[in-house]
Amino acid sequence: MKLKVITSNPGKVKEFQRSFEDMGVEMEHLHLPYDEIQTSELEEVVRKGMDEIRSKGVNDFIIDDSGLFINALKGFPGVYSAYGQKTIGNKGILRLMEGVKDRSAVFKCCIGCDIGGRTIIVTGECPGYILDSERGNEGFGYDPIFTHDNERSFAEIGVEEKNVISHRGNAVALLRERLISEGLIGPKN
Ligand code: IMP
Repeated sequence: MKLKVITSNPGKVKEFQRSFEDMGVEMEHLHLPYDEIQTSELEEVVRKGMDEIRSKGVNDFIIDDSGLFINALKGFPGVYSAYGQKTIGNKGILRLMEGVKDRSAVFKCCIGCDIGGRTIIVTGECPGYILDSERGNEGFGYDPIFTHDNERSFAEIGVEEKNVISHRGNAVALLRERLISEGLIGPKN
């Protein structure tokens, strides 16, 4: 079984490959740009992206979309997380959060999988809080300002631990469960 991982980020292909190796699923990188529609829901971005990709005659693929949703900012930057990084960055988010008591936020990752004519969509979440300042040197994006345990930032915990508890790790685990329980993949041999 072969699935195309449609992304501009080769790191994601490796992550999927590692998570599905024991199922005999081969992941192949495909760079195919698609529109990310303007909506407040990751699942809608993924659903529309899948329709567009299928309309180009491509099947058996995976796409994903992630974001950080801050409750006090009514879900911002959310689906605009990549744009938020490019524009105001972590410093801008911290400025918006100055003096704000409710620091709760959630990282979400939505994965869409087209497989054997079926559509499976799962969303993994990782709840936490926005810190008062940037901390740590690892990771990327909003990692230095997000904490899941109210102690260490995502940029301080290291990639191994992050993969186990993160929104993306959870989404990949959910996708595995769904594909296995629906008989679409099974253990190698
Ligand atoms: P993507 O959809 O996975 O490319 O994520 C969109 C944007 O959300 C990224 O450009 C990052 O700014 C942010 N983001 C997603 N996942 C993470 C994460 O694990 N840590 C920090 N920022 C993230």
